[in-house]
Amino acid sequence: MANYALDNANAHGAAHLSGLTGLFDEFSCARITESSRLRGARALEIGAGNGSVALWLADQVGPDGSVTAVDLDVSHIPSHERLTVSRLDLLEQPPPDGPFDLIHGRCVMTHLPNRATLLPALCERLAPGGTIIIEDFDPFGLERAAHLLRAPAEPAGVAELWHRYVHLRQQLFRESGSDRGFITRVPELLLQDGLGDVQAVTWCRSWRGGEPGSWHARATLQQFRPRLVEHGFPDEAVDVLVRALDDPDFSSAGRPLCSVSGRRPPA
Ligand SMILES: C[S@@+](CC[C@H](N)C(=O)[O-])C[C@H]1O[C@@H](n2cnc3c(N)ncnc32)[C@H](O)[C@@H]1O
Repeated sequence: MANYALDNANAHGAAHLSGLTGLFDEFSCARITESSRLRGARALEIGAGNGSVALWLADQVGPDGSVTAVDLDVSHIPSHERLTVSRLDLLEQPPPDGPFDLIHGRCVMTHLPNRATLLPALCERLAPGGTIIIEDFDPFGLERAAHLLRAPAEPAGVAELWHRYVHLRQQLFRESGSDRGFITRVPELLLQDGLGDVQAVTWCRSWRGGEPGSWHARATLQQFRPRLVEHGFPDEAVDVLVRALDDPDFSSAGRPLCSVSGRRPPA
């Protein structure tokens, strides 16, 4: 039974996913391009969200390649002639059979309590020479994420509210079974699985109110509203942050994403 703390079907689900797309697709696609040969590749995208990376992959692999995208909720994933979309609960069901030349998953492994057994299962599905890329928010970046470069002049106290909210958000994800530290262990786990060429790259860019980072943050804030209130973060404080996230004078230092890649040795 899935335990994901958020829900793509929520009224704020589409904004949450498109915020991630706007924040990170450029970086994720550059990481994929530099670590994999995509023409003719068989690719798997896990926890595909709105399918933006899967769709990009479907173009990149060309007519001889294929892409499989899986998620608990596939309703946001558009169709493409080279894209196979499957509804799959990765907590209950094994990943699709390989072999795959590329496996990519962004902001999903952290949420899956079976992550330590799922990662080797994914590595088993890599073809010789195939690459896996796992990306998640970097836990060492929590203070950066909680820091504002600039806060709106009115109302007073937005920077302090934001700092408190970001730490509480971390706690709420932890209470739902997310492990933000997992990404820091992925390099060692990939080496234990016999992969080579293991690299970790962390990327971050500041963003302002009204930009994709703020759509993502606001959608998370709105989805967490009832639980925030239960944890003593008042409804009115949520409203203040929701408004601030639309204000171009709100400027976040950003939320670093850590991207870890490894390659199965060629046969
Ligand atoms: C934070 S979103 C990331 C979406 C996308 N990878 C991105 O970065 O834009 C997490 C995704 O993982 C999916 N997910 C969560 N638990 C899952 C599970 N047990 N099995 C499959 N997908 C799951 C969610 O439905 C959601 O689409």
